[in-house]
Amino acid sequence: MCGIVGYIGMQEACPILIKGLRRLEYRGYDSAGVSMINEKGELNVFKAKGKVDDLEAFLSDKDISGTIGIAHTRWATHGIPCRENAHPHFSSSGTLSLIHNGIIENYATLKERLIEKGFTFVSDTDTEVLVQLIEYYKLEYKSDLLSAVQRALAQVIGAYAIAVLDKNNPDEIIAARKASPLAIGLGEGEYFLASDATPLVEYTHKVIYLDDDEIAVINRNSGLQIITLQGQAVNHEVSEINLDLGAIEKGGYEHFMLKEIFEQPDCLVNCMRGRINPEGTIVRFSSVIDNAEQLLNARRYIIVACGTSWHAGLIGKTLIENFCRIPVEVAYASEFRYSNPVIGNGDVVIAISQSGETADTLAAIELARSRGAFVYGIVNSVGSSIARNTQTGSYIHVGPEIGVASTKAFTGQVTVLTMLALCIAKERNTITQAELEEALGELLAIPGKMAEVLSQNDAIASLSRTFTYAQNFIYLGRGYNYPVALEGALKLKEISYIHAEGYPAAEMKHGPIALVDAEMPVVVVATNKLLYDKVLSNIQEIKARQGKVIAIVVKGDDTISKLVDYVIELPETAEFLYPLLASVPLQLLAYHIAVCKGKNVDQPRNLAKSVTVE
Ligand code: AGP
Ligand code: GLU
Repeated sequence: MCGIVGYIGMQEACPILIKGLRRLEYRGYDSAGVSMINEKGELNVFKAKGKVDDLEAFLSDKDISGTIGIAHTRWATHGIPCRENAHPHFSSSGTLSLIHNGIIENYATLKERLIEKGFTFVSDTDTEVLVQLIEYYKLEYKSDLLSAVQRALAQVIGAYAIAVLDKNNPDEIIAARKASPLAIGLGEGEYFLASDATPLVEYTHKVIYLDDDEIAVINRNSGLQIITLQGQAVNHEVSEINLDLGAIEKGGYEHFMLKEIFEQPDCLVNCMRGRINPEGTIVRFSSVIDNAEQLLNARRYIIVACGTSWHAGLIGKTLIENFCRIPVEVAYASEFRYSNPVIGNGDVVIAISQSGETADTLAAIELARSRGAFVYGIVNSVGSSIARNTQTGSYIHVGPEIGVASTKAFTGQVTVLTMLALCIAKERNTITQAELEEALGELLAIPGKMAEVLSQNDAIASLSRTFTYAQNFIYLGRGYNYPVALEGALKLKEISYIHAEGYPAAEMKHGPIALVDAEMPVVVVATNKLLYDKVLSNIQEIKARQGKVIAIVVKGDDTISKLVDYVIELPETAEFLYPLLASVPLQLLAYHIAVCKGKNVDQPRNLAKSVTVE
């Protein structure tokens, strides 16, 4: 949640900050603000409700000069989205300004204490408490900003990435993190701060990812110093950003989501590169070879994730159980972390996350590790907190995903899970070399088949126009396709705000079928070879109640095609690979319905790309 940007150097800060906010706008977009210290030594704060565009318009007649500044785009947790609650927040005296990503859980107690001491508050946020608390310690101990930040953070329970400016020290930004991401870009005589590397890449490729409980003191003259909350110096390794600017821009598409849907064939090629040999005879993960003992002899696997990544996890369960014969559980990270799970040595936890920053998934990892489980991460965002907090893992390598609704990350996750299951199965001898080669051959053909599915975009767009009237949608699937139905429904909900539910097709008759009438669109993923007749019966049941059926079928399926209202055809593939093909038309369907309804598909209301709060 929320994007943080900071700059200190020789250039004018504000244009850099605004550009950075635009890159991070996917993280939060209900309000935005900037704060700079100008040449006269004035500390200014400007903020606006709405998008970065609204902030920019508001700034047009303001003094936005200054070569040091911080900026924020908010995803509200405490207090409605409005100008007063937007960041940066001033301290009571107006000498400090602060931006914050995260939640201060004990803010109410701290606020009460500060009010007793005479502090006044102008917002409903938890964040304002932090800036006042820093000011309180600064005044009480007549201390410098750093000591006051250390004292204040020692009082705080919760999650934060913060950056603070002090009018009395116009050459310094102080930043700190606990459980919310913060990266520092190292330029020539200039420094950048950001919640992730995307705003940094056009200025520098050198980055330091701050760890939990660390404070960065960034001084114009003395450079960067990193210390722990307790004041011990930290020698941080500098990482190289491997991001291409083109990958984080729209490249001619109307929306990031559409661009990311269309990128999927290339993404999957990248994802498989170096893992499957071109002949399709070997699948290899160094993470499996290096950790063979834990991974091959595991008692069971537990997959933890949220949202779309959880759906990928459900497919992963079926893949691993089918190929490797190891029992797998799939848990919502948010439930797992508070469930006192029976877990320990001999268990492997697979944490799946696009952003690598999801707070619940991170907490689930910590719990699993503290109980002795071995933790494997499947992550997209390179250098993210989950990537750094797992014992080993695999990146999905699909490039930055900017659209809030996850698309290419989902298919990337499923591809990694497929390869991982096949790799482990081969090592455990639960599949033969011939079976492996057949599976790899089919997998290598998926990008080409996906491109074929994408060529139906225009037809899906016109089909979508038929359904803008709908208030509800049902998605059905069985076996490997059940999570595809869940994911299809989630996509539609997220961006078109149409209520949608996914069910295993056979569950219909146990309740949801009561909802079916002539108004109800039902999307059925009907590619199963194994359960074909069962799915066919489920479709008959819906048609008997006049439901409108959109069926995703295998090319050449005349039986279902004759029965239903609309058909989307997929090229034939192996049963376990249909999720990779079937999810594409569902992404396009959700996208086009949302566009027809005039919704903001890249930044849907109330959502954020990176959920760094509980
Ligand atoms: C996906 O479309 C959603 N926006 C959301 O469910 C997302 O998958 C979830 O928040 C998990 O995020 P992560 O993969 O970055 O951990
Ligand atoms: N909790 C803070 C607020 O509601 C920060 C939220 C965010 O991370 O954007 O303002």
